[in-house]
Amino acid sequence: MTKAKKSAGAAERRRCVELADEIRRHDRLYHVEARPEISDYEYDRLVKELEALEAAFPELRAPDSPTQRIGGAPLDGFDTVTHAVPMRSLANTYDEGEVREFDRRVREGLTGESFRYHVELKFDGVAVSLRYRDGVLERGATRGDGSVGDDITANLKTIRTLPLRVRENRPFEVRGEVYMLRSDFDDLNARRRDEGLETYANPRNTTAGTLKQLDPKVVAGRRLRLFAYQVVDPGELGFDTHSGSMNWLESLGLPVSGDREVFDDVDGALAWVESWQEKRRGLAYDTDGMVIKVDSIIQQERLGATSKAPRWAIAYKFPAAGEPTRLEDIKVQIGRTGTATPVAVLAPVVVAGSTVSRATLHNLDEIRRKDIRVGDTVFVEKGGDVIPKITGVVLEKRPKGSRRWRFPKRCPVCDTELVRDEDEVAHRCVNVACPAQIEGRIEHFAARGAMDIEGLGTKLIAQLVGKGHVHDVGDLYFLDFEDVLALERMGELSTKNLFEGLTESKARPFHRVLHAVGIRHVGAHVARVLANAVGSLDALEAATCESLTEIHEIGQTVAASIVDFLHRDESRGMFDKLRRAGLQMVEERGEGRRLLEGLTFVLTGTLANRTRTQAGDLLRERGARVAGSVSKSTDYVVAGEAAGSKRRKAEKLEIPILDEEGFERLLREGP
Ligand code: IVH
Repeated sequence: MTKAKKSAGAAERRRCVELADEIRRHDRLYHVEARPEISDYEYDRLVKELEALEAAFPELRAPDSPTQRIGGAPLDGFDTVTHAVPMRSLANTYDEGEVREFDRRVREGLTGESFRYHVELKFDGVAVSLRYRDGVLERGATRGDGSVGDDITANLKTIRTLPLRVRENRPFEVRGEVYMLRSDFDDLNARRRDEGLETYANPRNTTAGTLKQLDPKVVAGRRLRLFAYQVVDPGELGFDTHSGSMNWLESLGLPVSGDREVFDDVDGALAWVESWQEKRRGLAYDTDGMVIKVDSIIQQERLGATSKAPRWAIAYKFPAAGEPTRLEDIKVQIGRTGTATPVAVLAPVVVAGSTVSRATLHNLDEIRRKDIRVGDTVFVEKGGDVIPKITGVVLEKRPKGSRRWRFPKRCPVCDTELVRDEDEVAHRCVNVACPAQIEGRIEHFAARGAMDIEGLGTKLIAQLVGKGHVHDVGDLYFLDFEDVLALERMGELSTKNLFEGLTESKARPFHRVLHAVGIRHVGAHVARVLANAVGSLDALEAATCESLTEIHEIGQTVAASIVDFLHRDESRGMFDKLRRAGLQMVEERGEGRRLLEGLTFVLTGTLANRTRTQAGDLLRERGARVAGSVSKSTDYVVAGEAAGSKRRKAEKLEIPILDEEGFERLLREGP
């Protein structure tokens, strides 16, 4: 590409401002008001257009341009930042008596003056400090040791709820907590599980780890959020009260939690805290307690601080959630990619209506952080994730002479030495023939969304592998009927079911096969992209890293993982069997199943017989693209009951509109 040095004209300048405003508006609609008007695809298109303009005319790139949120080039390391006002911590307690003691000290310090308490949530995330100058977010930093932190401006700019520009020209600094929604955390883990990657322990750790990323693009993909909870030097800015300064932050567009209230005395404050014990479970993010602060700024100043924490505030923590039980043992489980996950073996306990005797411990770091030891009394909770987890340890009940747990040196299943890569938290078994890994791979292969094999459950898989009938997923298709019938708990009918399920699975499209074989970093979506772009296993085997990275959405890591997988002897052998068994090794395009290849649909309104998701899946299975909003490139709009603005737009653009009947016909017969 030749770089002609041209300066921006009025039209480009205008378009830049227009795009930036439009993107900011959609950011607000999506992240703050939760009512997006355009699809992710269209949003990306706006951002790409702005990026391209700014790349061509760098003078148009404003420091508060929304493109800054996408994350720039990776950093070599973080600069350090000295906090002008140190970032202190909070005194904290689980005990109401200590809160009353705090109240007594406050009253004493204020010698009988009247005062009020501001009560707010304690967000369970990572503390940061933000500096605005001339109305622009200039710098963001971690707490570090309280006096010196890391400059993580580029990472913080990726937080979409954080305004890069505010209507306030005086310089000011604000402190807040970066966090992640539990749902975003669960999505992230589901995606990682799908791609054969390590899952994360909890939203807080993930947030901390994400903020330390040197590549802001990774951060941009994580949907971090922030709540501002304190203005630095509020008196300087003319505020009499903390509550007043919070209202001001809110009016500037900074994300401030609405769950805050002012009380005349400690009893009111405590009663409100009490009311949050249960209510907090309904929040979309984690809180670990509440913070009680003296509201008046002058009174705060009069009370002062110790070297560690202010005397005018206290964190009242919620009791550790869950049911107590005894941790009998810690075992190590091996997943399909060889990851060794420590699992807690518990004295059975009833949690939320069902008996729990196992819980995941994630990894060694997690065990060390919570200092969990065999013999401990621990709290067990069932998170949103169904898999129970340990939320805390009762240190007072720790038996004498207990020892820190050590990760076993060898795989408990195949006795191969476990390895731990540099910069990876996980230990792994590197023996691809490890029976535990084979079982894991077969489970993944047979799962819904992959090959969806009826009648092939975990217990049967364990037997098939244990008896040596199956060494890889290819062997499934060459099983002997009598061998299966001879297994425990297998009868004529269940054996027949399995064989039928296997036969049926041979018709699954190639992209499902590609997902099912369990290539690291290749989840359902990437498999679909690959199959569409490459077309067949033969073509994929001939591909190189370079040719794969030319495909949109396929990066270096994914490409390397694919090439590595395909060139292993075991993979060749396995694909050979799958091919001989008659599985689909070519993505059908154009003809046959991919009836709607290349067409773009928009779904709107309610269909009588299908959910929006089902309808979208059916379209995509046939090769169509489903967009979130109507544009000139839309080919059909499917309009159900109560279709509104999208229908009108389609009429205006003269795009064909299908009713439910027309839609069903199109699914069967094509355009
Ligand atoms: S005020 C001078 N308010 O808790 C201390 N902190 O244990 C100012 N935190 O480092 C802190 N929610 O990261 C304050 N509503 C809230 C908070 C909060 C969470 C965190 C913050 C702080 C830690 C102290």
